[in-house]
Amino acid sequence: MQIEFRAIVHSEYGAPEKVLTIAERQFKTEDLGVDDVLVKVRARPVHPGDIHILSALPQGGPIVPIPEGTLRVPGFEGVGTILQIGTNPEAAKRFSEGQRVAFFPAMGSWAEYVVVRYESLLPVSDEIPDQIAAQMLINTVTASVLIKAGHNSLKPPITPPVYILQNAAASGVGRLLTQVALDRGVRPIRLVRSNESAERLRSALPGPPVYSTSDSNWKQQVREALGGHKLNVAFDALGGKAIDDLAELVDDGGSIINFGSLQSNIGANIYSLAPNNLSLKSVSIM
Ligand SMILES: NC(=O)c1ccc[n+]([C@@H]2O[C@H](COP(=O)([O-])OP(=O)(O)OC[C@H]3O[C@@H](n4cnc5c(N)ncnc54)[C@H](OP(=O)(O)O)[C@@H]3O)[C@@H](O)[C@H]2O)c1
Repeated sequence: MQIEFRAIVHSEYGAPEKVLTIAERQFKTEDLGVDDVLVKVRARPVHPGDIHILSALPQGGPIVPIPEGTLRVPGFEGVGTILQIGTNPEAAKRFSEGQRVAFFPAMGSWAEYVVVRYESLLPVSDEIPDQIAAQMLINTVTASVLIKAGHNSLKPPITPPVYILQNAAASGVGRLLTQVALDRGVRPIRLVRSNESAERLRSALPGPPVYSTSDSNWKQQVREALGGHKLNVAFDALGGKAIDDLAELVDDGGSIINFGSLQSNIGANIYSLAPNNLSLKSVSIM
């Protein structure tokens, strides 16, 4: 059977509004690989990382050339309904046609249909709406990997209370990281870039302190929140000068764990790490 569908595509890298277009695509179900599953996509997210890659920004990682005459479909995750399962009996044991699944990693989820390896599928229960299911894997996996990286950065013996500092704390990953930290008895201190964002975050996810880096005394506010306790780990999703700022607050021998470059991937002064003998680490799940 041949399926005709639409996809968001691009043939070159650049600003999304310049390079993205919609194209008709075809897929022959006979071409489905042994381990593959054909999914009709119901919803897919737009991550900052999608835009970084599309725009060929350095923080998007190495650019994979798009062969002449072909089109790239962006998007790595989403939620959809299984249309057809490949011949691997293990896949047929775990999944069934018509089942609703979240998927990651997938290549090309910004389309009406996507082919995904069966190991990348997760069944989704009815009470989870598409908007949540579509974006519950990348960010959740990232938050889990981050908290582990943070834990591994602590030097034993670990004596509670353990504090972490996180910027871009209102982001999807930031909120999950806060929640995962709280679940483990860790005390997050959250940073956002404006008082409006701080207000929104306090009402959406109340609890740990939130400070806006637009306040000139935000570093003093963080020190007061620490109340004399040490800060050994800070999480950075912004890059550039934000790393220098965090470095002023992390204690001797501590770590800054970068996992994104929402602001810039240039401009960090590595000498900001030197006075307190800090380590700069990075986490990437792709
Ligand atoms: N390492 C990995 O494998 C991995 C995986 C997934 C995501 N990430 C990274 O995680 C970070 C968050 O992603 P997300 O999908 O969770 O983001 P998101 O939900 O789209 O939220 C973006 C947030 O970042 C804030 N922000 C944007 N630009 C900023 C700037 N220049 N300065 C300060 N704050 C800024 C926004 O603040 P306002 O509320 O003020 O608008 C917003 O709260 C990104 O850096 C992304 O690349 C990394």
